[in-house]
Amino acid sequence: MLSPVAAIVLAILSTAILILRRKRLHTLPPGPRGWPFIGNLFDLHQEFPWITYSKWSKTYGDIVFLRVVSTPLLIVSSADVALELMDKRSAIYSSRPTSIMDVMTGWDFNVSFIPYGQQWRNIRRKIHEHFHQMITPSYRDKQTKHVHAFLRQCLAGQERQFNHKLIRQLLAATIMDIIYGIKIKDMDNDYITTVVKSLEVLGEIKQPGKYWVDYMPFLQYVPQWVPRNTSAKFAAHSRPIVEKMLNRPFNAVRNGETSNNCVAASMLAKIELQPDVERRREEEIHAKHAAGIIYAAAVETTFSVLQAFFCGMAMSPDIQKRARQELDSVVGPERLPTYDDQDHLPYVQAIFMECLRWMTTVPLGVPHSATQDDYYNGYFIPSGTIIIPNAWHILHNPEEYPEPDKFNPDRFIKDGVINPMIRDPAAIAFGFGRRICPGRHFAKDTAFLAIASILHTFDIKPSIDENGHELDPTPQLHGSIISFPSPLNYRLKSRSEGAEKLIRATEL
Ligand code: HEM
Repeated sequence: MLSPVAAIVLAILSTAILILRRKRLHTLPPGPRGWPFIGNLFDLHQEFPWITYSKWSKTYGDIVFLRVVSTPLLIVSSADVALELMDKRSAIYSSRPTSIMDVMTGWDFNVSFIPYGQQWRNIRRKIHEHFHQMITPSYRDKQTKHVHAFLRQCLAGQERQFNHKLIRQLLAATIMDIIYGIKIKDMDNDYITTVVKSLEVLGEIKQPGKYWVDYMPFLQYVPQWVPRNTSAKFAAHSRPIVEKMLNRPFNAVRNGETSNNCVAASMLAKIELQPDVERRREEEIHAKHAAGIIYAAAVETTFSVLQAFFCGMAMSPDIQKRARQELDSVVGPERLPTYDDQDHLPYVQAIFMECLRWMTTVPLGVPHSATQDDYYNGYFIPSGTIIIPNAWHILHNPEEYPEPDKFNPDRFIKDGVINPMIRDPAAIAFGFGRRICPGRHFAKDTAFLAIASILHTFDIKPSIDENGHELDPTPQLHGSIISFPSPLNYRLKSRSEGAEKLIRATEL
C-alpha cells in the first residue's frame, strides 16, 4: 500500500510525463515568433513574399510554421516535402482554405478555391472531360489559327517597344473561341476588360495577409460605412464585375448567340440529355463555373510564361541562335512550325521549361489545406493547416538548377535531347496531387506553338528609347497569386523576307 505522500508524488510524475509526451507529440515545426492573438499576421504581407519565405527556409528549414490569429500555416520549401505531403498524402492535403474575401467578391465560384468534396469533384470532372491529354489535340487547329493571327499582328507592329497587349489578345482570343465560341478582335472588347478587371480583384484579395477578414471572420459583419473597412468597400465594388465575367459569356452560349463549336455548348448539349430537372439545373451551374474559371486560369498564367519567354530571349541572342538552328534543320524555311514538329524540337521545349522555372508564374502555388492532423518528420501538422508551397524557391534551388537566376535552357539538354535527370519545372509549376493544374497540357500546347513560331520568324531584341539606346531587358518577378516579369523591354524584328512571306501566307 502506497503512503499518501508517495501517491501524490506518483500522480504528479505521471501527469508530468503525460504532458511532456503530449508536448513532444505536438511539437510544431519551427518558424518566426508571432505576436499574442494575431500571431504572424504582420510577417505575412510582404512585397515579394516568396523571397522572404525563401530566407526563412534558410533559418528554419524546409517547413516553416506560422500562425495567423487561429489559422496555422506551413510554408514548404523543398520539392521532396511538397510532393510527400500534397502528392503522396493527397488523401489529407487536397482541400483548400476557405476565404471570406472570395465569398464577398463573388470569386467563391472558382473551383481552384473550393474545398475538397463533391462540389469540387463535379466541376473538376467537367474541366477534365474537356482538357485531358487525349482531348487537347482537338483544339490545335484553333490554337494554330490564333497563333498565325498573332504573327500577322507582330509583323504589323515592329516598333521600338513591343505592344504587349497583343500577347494577352492572342491568349484571350484563343480561349474565348474554344470555351465560348466568341470571336475577339481586340483587347478593348467588353468581355475581355471584364475578365482583366476581375483578375485584378483576384490578385488584390490573394495577397497573403492583406485582408484581415480572412483570418478574423467576425470582421465581415462590420458595416461598410465604418471608416477603414476596406474589405467591405472593395467587395461591394468588385462583386458585380466578377458576376458579369461569369454570367455574360455563358448566357450568350445558352442563348445561341455564339458559334456552337465550343466547350460551353458541348457541356450544355450533354446536360440537355439529363432527364431530371433539378440535376439539370445543378449541372448547368457547374458547367458555368467550369467555363468561367478556365478563362481566368488560362489567360493570365500563360501570358506570364510568354512574357518570361520574350524577356529571356531579348537578353540572350545566343539562345535564339541555337533555337533557330534547330528550327531551321527540323522545320526549314518553306513553312511555319506545326504541332507535328513538337517532339523533334527539344531545344524549343527546353526554352519553355526554363520560362516556367525562371519567372515562376504562380510563385507560392495555390495553397492546399490539411483535413486531418498529421505528422511530418516528427513535427505535428494540425488539421486545418494551410500549406503554401514556395514554388519559386524550389525552382531556384541552386543544387538542382545551378545559377538559378540565369535564363539558361541548356540546363535541361544533354547530348541533344531533354535530360531526364533534371527535374522538369512542370512537376512543380503546375502544382501537386489531386489539385494539379488540369490545364497543363493545353497550356504547354499554346506556349509551344507561340514560342516556336515567333523564334522561326522574328528576332527578339531589347527595346530602344527615343535616342536609339537599348533598354535593359532583364526583368524581375512582381505580383500576387499570379506573377509577371517586368519591366518588358523588348521588340520584334522580322528575320527575313522569307519569314514575312510565310506569315502573310497564313491569311489566305
Ligand atoms: C502556364 C500556364 C499555367 C500555370 C503555370 C498554371 C498553374 C497552376 C497551379 C500552380 C495550380 C494550383 C495547383 C495546386 O493546387 O497544387 C493550378 C490550378 C488550376 N489551373 Fe492552372 N496553370 C496554367 C494554365 C492553366 C490553363 C490553360 C487552365 C485551363 C485550361 C488552367 C486551369 C486550372 C484550374 C481549373 C485549376 C484549379 C484546379 C483545382 O483546384 O482542382 N490552368 N494551375
